[in-house]
Amino acid sequence: MTESLPLLLRAARGEKVDRPPVWMMRQAGRYMSVYRKLRDKHPSFRERSENPDLSYEISMQPFREFQPDGVILFSDILTPLPGMGIDFDIVESKGPLIQNPIREKSQVDSLKILEPKNNLSFVGEVLGRLRESVGNKATVLGFVGAPWTLAAYVVEGRSSKNYSVIKEMAFKNPSLLHKLLDHFATSIANYLRYQIDSGAQVVQMFDSWAGQLSPTDYDVFAGPYQKKVIDLLKETHPDTPVILYISGSAGVLERMASTGVDFISLDWTVDMEDGCKRIPTNIGIQGNVDPGILFGTPKMIKDRIIDTVKKAQGRRYILNLGHGILPGTPEENARVFFETSKNINSFIN
Ligand code: CP3
Repeated sequence: MTESLPLLLRAARGEKVDRPPVWMMRQAGRYMSVYRKLRDKHPSFRERSENPDLSYEISMQPFREFQPDGVILFSDILTPLPGMGIDFDIVESKGPLIQNPIREKSQVDSLKILEPKNNLSFVGEVLGRLRESVGNKATVLGFVGAPWTLAAYVVEGRSSKNYSVIKEMAFKNPSLLHKLLDHFATSIANYLRYQIDSGAQVVQMFDSWAGQLSPTDYDVFAGPYQKKVIDLLKETHPDTPVILYISGSAGVLERMASTGVDFISLDWTVDMEDGCKRIPTNIGIQGNVDPGILFGTPKMIKDRIIDTVKKAQGRRYILNLGHGILPGTPEENARVFFETSKNINSFIN
């Protein structure tokens, strides 16, 4: 009966599969010429991600081109912020900008509780349409940002190098930061529930900037809120696999494993073999090819994929990059990545 379910979902649930499923973080986006063309016509990121026709179309672009095993919603981790009363924009070459960064207690107190059905109905619509379109040919993935990473954006106001503003808040006024993190945890859990009810079959939580914390502080400001999101989600949706990604996670892998996640997505600074040893076998592993390899030769790309997959053999495993595909990546190299991955059995057996 489960034969009819898509490969990635079966692998994520721990079933035995013929080959590891494959998708790419940021697989829809600037490296694709069809995306750049559409972006010229619709220069606002908010429009591209909040107009359901555009978001659907962009989500489908990599699926049409490469048939990955996973189709991820085209959106952003910041998309739920306006529903909580925080406005944002994404500006070419500057990245995300928050007009009024959250620095004061009064601002935290006046945050709104997210109501996904009202605030984010466009996301629900896109997820439903994606499911209908890809059927059992691929798994539809939803995603959110974890509380710490969302807080990093809204407190800093933009992408940051040192995270000094949020760290000042963490180490001078921790109770204010905890209040903000707690608000995000509840809202993000509701948002994940809504994504799953709308069609997402697997979800990924990005705590991209949690790797900026010392492990001691990770245990205070990141881990407990990842766990809160997962605990809340599992109360209502225990069967939906959850993947957790952190950039620069080598110092906290064991800690990530104790949050209740089903999968850990490794970046490429951890050797796959070491990662497999450090993460308990009941947790699956995703990753971790260096996105920079995709600027190399087809042979280099192929060899690295084979090496990575061999090291993950015997584990519940999803093949992916170690972070998002980089702008400027040649599309033909993305094709090499997907084709090698989908034919992996002819290279390793
Ligand atoms: O994976 C996918 O294909 C889905 C799309 C996706 C986007 N953002 C689209 C996007 C996903 C999963 C995200 C998540 C996201 N957004 C994260 C977590 C993943 C990670 O990279 O660690 C983070 C930290 C953000 C915040 C954010 N949004 C950044 C840092 C940027 C890049 C800014 C820049 O100009 O380099 C964005 C903008 C963004 N989100 C783009 C895309 C395709 C690029 C802007 C554009 O296309 O015009």
